[in-house]
Amino acid sequence: MSDHAEIVEVGLRDGLQNERTPVDATTRARWFNALADAGLNRIEAGSFVSPKWVPQMASTDQVIAGIQRRPGLSVETLIPNQKGLDAALASRVDRIAVFTAASDAFTQKNINCSITESLERFAPLIEAANNAGLRVRGYISTIAACPYAGRIQPGAVADVTERLLGLGCDDISLGDTTGVARPREIDAILDAVLPLVPTERLALHCHDTYGQALANVLQGLERGIRTFDSAVAGLGGCPYARGASGNLATEDLLYLLEGQGLHTGVDLEAVCRIGNDICHRLDRRTPSKVAQAMQC
Ligand code: HMG
Ligand code: MG
Repeated sequence: MSDHAEIVEVGLRDGLQNERTPVDATTRARWFNALADAGLNRIEAGSFVSPKWVPQMASTDQVIAGIQRRPGLSVETLIPNQKGLDAALASRVDRIAVFTAASDAFTQKNINCSITESLERFAPLIEAANNAGLRVRGYISTIAACPYAGRIQPGAVADVTERLLGLGCDDISLGDTTGVARPREIDAILDAVLPLVPTERLALHCHDTYGQALANVLQGLERGIRTFDSAVAGLGGCPYARGASGNLATEDLLYLLEGQGLHTGVDLEAVCRIGNDICHRLDRRTPSKVAQAMQC
């Protein structure tokens, strides 16, 4: 099994999309560049969604314009529709992510359509992105539970996984949107999904609402997953999932992965310092235990 683990840094998207006060594009670009300097090479710069729905992600194009491109760095954004894809192409991102869920109720709240409608909408977008040479991620939210529909069956996650792969997604990120899952539930979801997709094309996206994110990562590691989403300073939530607190903190994830003998190429102390800067700006204390302990 590979001794390398990959982190997809989602703080500037999943984190900032939930902040009451939007952060200006220049500051977001500065944080992006600092995260890349720290060794993170897959970073979400924001999302091209409707500013009426998520005003915090407005001016993602200006964030991307301020990014120092470098070999090996993947600039990534979420897109929900053609308008989003057009903006992503104009900004020359490296990877787009389409996003749906294993729950129709959540999909309706999040992107105003059913799961099936979302997949019908994504099909030509994924094809166009592939033709333009972009990588495409498919997010599946509410893999364990939905804030509107309750528990989700692993089979529903497997079904959406199969459909997204069939449309041409390169990789699938399994999102525990409200952070309620525990390792046994993750295990059951992976039992259903792993027969359909090799571990190299899967990521776990854990929110830490119930403090289970690291345990779930460990479960994912045991099952062979090596890509994990996390957010510097544990930023995060989801505007359409009340009670969804921050993502797993990148600092905590790095500490775990290094301790398990997995190489990430990311400088933990540097990420802690960026987290401090972000927390200072947002006037809050970091939820990351590792950042608290290291006091960088
Ligand atoms: P709608 O209202 O059904 O769409 O929203 P519409 O086509 O009627 O458009 C409404 C208005 O938005 C129009 O403007 C469009 O032009 C504009 P108007 O004519 O009224 O002036 N618009 C756009 N503007 C800029 N960029 C666009 C765009 N699209 C439309 N791409 C829509 C449907 C999908 C657009 C909307 O629901 C939306 O933007 N939703 C985004 C929700 C979102 O960002 N959620 C958070 C990300 S998902 C997440 O966090 C979970 C994840 O982290 C994994 C996990 O934790 O589970 C990934
Ligand atoms: Mg999320």
